[in-house]
Amino acid sequence: MKINQEELKKAAGEASIKYVEDGMKIGLGSGSTVYWLIQALGQYIKDGGKIEGIPSSEQTQRWAAEAGVPLTTFSKVEQLDVTIDGADEVDKNLQLIKGGGGALFREKIIAAAAKTLIIIVDETKKVKQLGRFPLPVEVLPFGWEVTANRISKLGGKPELRKKDGDIYRSDNGNYILDCSFSYIADPAILESQLKNIVGVVETGLFVNMADKVIVGKLDGLEVIEK
Ligand code: A5P
Repeated sequence: MKINQEELKKAAGEASIKYVEDGMKIGLGSGSTVYWLIQALGQYIKDGGKIEGIPSSEQTQRWAAEAGVPLTTFSKVEQLDVTIDGADEVDKNLQLIKGGGGALFREKIIAAAAKTLIIIVDETKKVKQLGRFPLPVEVLPFGWEVTANRISKLGGKPELRKKDGDIYRSDNGNYILDCSFSYIADPAILESQLKNIVGVVETGLFVNMADKVIVGKLDGLEVIEK
């Protein structure tokens, strides 16, 4: 049987349900792999399970509503038990690039608010070194050109994200700069340099945040832990 990338995403998304328990408050990431998690959570609820989720994007919120997954907000929940999310790149130290779908800021908030962060990916996302995927950086629209210039001085080549010919705006109303660095020698240093630039709202580098990565592979599932 020919297995395609979508099936590997589905396998990783469905496997993550094993870490879900009744009563949990769950951070719901974004993207096509998370879609499969949400379908599995919908089934979990239909089977009588009780969880509540906080979505990281408007798309995830819509999918959760369609699948019948109950949602809550940070006005009612102080800490999440687990956040489950996808990624664009994962290295062997569980450092991540995220934000290909533009939801990096809210994704980082639900990741930071969770006791455990589980990442679900297909095997194409595993890399030796981060950086082949252009790093998404969310910036304030005001003065974005100055912000982009300062990112260039760190060695990145920022490109303003567009969608259907228009400037792309995140769910927070900000711009995204996709920054090619070729390779990122030290994710922690780059993260702190980027966060020091006025105008940078958040970066897609998730440093020392993931606890577990579930990888859907042609020859089965791999679980990488801290
Ligand atoms: C969304 O902003 C991203 O961080 C996604 O988690 C990431 O792009 C992975 O998406 P896919 O699961 O669609 O590959």
